[in-house]
Amino acid sequence: VDPVQFETGIDAALLAGATRLRLVACGTSYHAALMGRHFLEHWARIPTEAVIASELRERPLLDEPGLTYIGVSQSGETLDTLEALRHVHKQGFPILAVTNVQGSSLTRLADETILTRVGPEVGVAATKTLLGQVTTLAILALELAQARKTLDEPTLERLAHELRRLPRVLEETLGREQELGVMARQLAQAEDLFFLGRGVHVATAYEAALKFKEITYNHAEGFGSAELKHGPFALLSPETPCVFFVPAGEGRQKVLGNMVEVAARNAKVYAIVQGETADLEGIVDGYVKVAGGDVVGPLAMSLAGQLLAYHAAVGLDRSVDMPRNLAKSVTVE
Ligand code: AGP
Repeated sequence: VDPVQFETGIDAALLAGATRLRLVACGTSYHAALMGRHFLEHWARIPTEAVIASELRERPLLDEPGLTYIGVSQSGETLDTLEALRHVHKQGFPILAVTNVQGSSLTRLADETILTRVGPEVGVAATKTLLGQVTTLAILALELAQARKTLDEPTLERLAHELRRLPRVLEETLGREQELGVMARQLAQAEDLFFLGRGVHVATAYEAALKFKEITYNHAEGFGSAELKHGPFALLSPETPCVFFVPAGEGRQKVLGNMVEVAARNAKVYAIVQGETADLEGIVDGYVKVAGGDVVGPLAMSLAGQLLAYHAAVGLDRSVDMPRNLAKSVTVE
């Protein structure tokens, strides 16, 4: 069997000397960047941060040798992302683009581009493009891990195997649509709700909340569940359902602990869960199970979050594809 080879097709020289990475993006693309940061740090062992483009524009540019920027933008036309990268481009920092649109302004600005190749996305709310961005950043992280020898062959093989399973895992998650619809209709009745997770699923929670508010117009927030005790606990009541993203392995016990704390404050507790479910008994008011895994896990969780928002919005008779006050691509200040 040939050894597995991860290739994004970019010139390896661009990242060969990178000692730090900074992912720059807005909205859903920022959430994809947060997930990408997780992969790049865990697998390629490169110090990485994800920043909101509009905020980067306000920061002073410091002398940071070895820093490479990665612009993440579905459209490649988001003004805040472009302006932030123009700002760093003037200082000579190398830039890699991750975008869905060939020939977009971002591709013209960047030194190298990886196309996510998920086809045009018509709906204003980003859905399949999030999945494409996260998958692309995972492959980039694995390519770098392979080049830098930060993961051994069996681990690379296992992760490659997981990636090959991705279409099946997404199909399986779509197969949970009915159960997710039941949960979504319960969530849609609340004026405020919270999505919660730890580790990579802090980003999953942020994204689920963004999707929910974008297309239902109900108020939803995403938090790292360990942050609850630092303030958001004060918001909990029987009227504020909390949806937890519960992983199968590392971090599960801590998430379960956070769920118990929320249930003790009389808020309804729901779970999108990977792995076993017996330990949820007595804690949750409802759960839906999705596939686990280092690569496919965050993608399955994210798709479940999208389906919750979709079914809640349909139930509320919202315009799912064209939510009010929003544009597909934000090309203005
Ligand atoms: C996501 O559902 C939104 N429509 C929005 O947050 C979007 O992700 C953001 O404007 C960034 O767009 P981009 O990926 O095209 O740069």
